[in-house]
This record gives sequence, structure tokens and C-alpha cells, in this order.
Amino acid sequence: MRLLAIESSCDETAAAVVEDGRRILSNVVSTQIEIHARWGGVVPELASRRHLESIGPVVDEALGAANVRIESLDAVAVTYGPGLVGSLLVGLEYAKAIAWTHGKPLVPVHHIAGHIHAPFLSFDHIPLPAIALVVSGGHTSLFLMKELGVYELLSRTRDDAAGEAYDKVAKLLGLGYPGGPIVDKLAATGRDDAVFFKMAKMSDGKPDFSFSGLKTAVLHHVKAHGLPPVASRDDVPGDVRDLLASFQKAVVTALLRRLKDAVERHRPASVILTGGVAANSRLRKDAQAMMSTLSVPLFVPPLNLTTDNAAMIGAAGTVAFDRGVRAGSNLEAEPFAAIGA
Ligand code: KG4
Ligand code: ZN
Repeated sequence: MRLLAIESSCDETAAAVVEDGRRILSNVVSTQIEIHARWGGVVPELASRRHLESIGPVVDEALGAANVRIESLDAVAVTYGPGLVGSLLVGLEYAKAIAWTHGKPLVPVHHIAGHIHAPFLSFDHIPLPAIALVVSGGHTSLFLMKELGVYELLSRTRDDAAGEAYDKVAKLLGLGYPGGPIVDKLAATGRDDAVFFKMAKMSDGKPDFSFSGLKTAVLHHVKAHGLPPVASRDDVPGDVRDLLASFQKAVVTALLRRLKDAVERHRPASVILTGGVAANSRLRKDAQAMMSTLSVPLFVPPLNLTTDNAAMIGAAGTVAFDRGVRAGSNLEAEPFAAIGA
């Protein structure tokens, strides 16, 4: 079973050919980071324009690298949401056109389902039920997956996503976009007990996440201590490194506290850590240590499959295909798509 997968929900134009939902025959990602970096975040109009330019060459490259002709594909999978509407539309219309022209089934894939299935491309057996912590630029959620392709939402963020907090903190310190990788690197050289950040608590007692208070606390700290914007990424003062290490500790602690509660409550057979923020070195290390203590196997995708890519859409698309999920040419982009729909 071979499937062409297309992803264009944010600032990556991506296409992949995936076999049996597990083997990556090709995985092409054209990133737009350099276009958006000077604006400090993704500019939707620029993103959709670049997707339009890239989608054809990216799909051709994915088919070429896999040495697969469209005629021999079993289906076309595409991200229909959530994401930026103008960006989603580019991949969606392209996928529809291929599916319609060549008479292939079209499989709609939720972007978060893609992240959840990313580790299935690297590990032969992930026992279910699994709890998945999805941490990205747009989402911070915990899911319980009792059977393949069925996602039960346990927790979500009430405001900012974890990756968004990294990006906003990096921006306010003048460290550029995206914030995650540079903060991760600098935090490793700072003292994580230098600044104390209070953990967010939900007034209604729900096990949800919240990161906007933490971002504001960082802003207050910067103002109170008169920290100037960083002049060069290569020469970052010690007090900024300490602040970043403390911020990172607060994010990782908040994520893992909720994860631990969920594991103790639902007793899953495995835990999946995925999404762009799962590239974070401290989160990977601390999650591994915690899961060893709890004796639950942890599955984290390799770095190139944590951030947005189409192979993960292919993996989730194969599961959806097997469950009979199909879409017609009336499939629409859903910027706020709920998972499981
Ligand atoms: O999954 P992703 O590529 O896109 C979304 O679906 O949002 O995640 C991108 C996010 C960005 O916010 C980026 O700053 C964050 O992942 N990120 C990281 C790291 N690498 C990427 N955050 C923390 N540490 C990292 N090493
Ligand atoms: Zn993503």
C-alpha cells in the first residue's frame, strides 16, 4: 500500500511517499523559515505565496526520489486542518487535483494525527493504548489512543502552545524566529534555578496547560532587570542564559507534570512524545527519565520527524485509509479542525 502525502498547513511545503504506513520511500520538506525570520513569525500571505511556488516541485521531487509513478499509488493523503487557511488550501487543492485526475482515493488527515503517528515510522511496535503528548508551535495536548486512529483528548492548552511560548520569549529577547532551537541551545549553558516561575493552575481544576502567564512573567523579568535585546546570538550574556534555562525548566516541568498525572490515571502501554517541541533536548531527556521511573516505554520520533513533514501525514493517512476514511472533491480546508472529525 503506497500513498502520496502532502502537508502545507503552516510554513513548510512537504510531500512524501510512504509504504504500508511505516516505510518512508521519500520525504521532501521545503521550509520557509528564512522568509518569515525577518518578521519574527509566520506571515500568512507570504506563506501561501511560497507554498504555491513550491508545491509542484516538492511533489515531483518526492515521487522522483521514491521512484514511484502516480499511477502506481493507492491513495493521496493531505492535511485538511488545522492551520493557516491560505496555506492549507494550496496542498489541499493540489492533492485533490492529483486524486481526481488519476482516479485515486483522497484521504483527509488531521495535522495533529500526523504528529501522533510520526514515531510509527521509526518503531516497529508501539503498544496500545498509548498516551500522546503533542507539543508544537500551535498545539499542546494530551491524547489517549486506545486503538489506531481513534484519539481521545485528555488535556489541551487554554492559551499559548508550548512552542508559541518559546517563539514569543525568543522574540522579546531579540533571538529571532523560530525560538525553540536557539532557546534550547542557550538554556543548556544557563542555571535553571536562577529565576523562579510559578506553575499555572486551572481554577476549574481541569488538567489543562497554560503558557501565556509564563511568557508574561519572562517579560516582567526582562523589564524589571533592564535586560537589553540580545545583540548577537553568538554573544549572549549569562543572565539571559540563566533566564532561558529557568524558562525551559518551567515549560518542561509543566508538560511532564500533566503527562505523569495522565499516565498514572490511564495506565497506558506506551507514551508518545511528538511535535516540534519534542525536538527539545531537555524535554526528551527528562521525559525519558520519567518514563523509566514509571516503567512505561517512551516513543519519540527522530529529530527530522518531530517538526512538520509529510511522512507523518502518510503514516496517519494510512491508518485513516485502513479505517475507510475518504473525501471527495468538495473537501474543504478547516483552519480550526477538531481532531477525530
Ligand atoms: O510541529 P511544528 O514544526 O509546527 C507546528 O505544527 O506548530 O513545531 C514548530 C514549533 C516552533 O514553535 C518551534 O520553536 C518549536 O516547535 N521547536 C522547539 C525546538 N525545535 C522546534 N521548541 C523547543 N526546543 C526545540 N529544540
Ligand atoms: Zn505541526
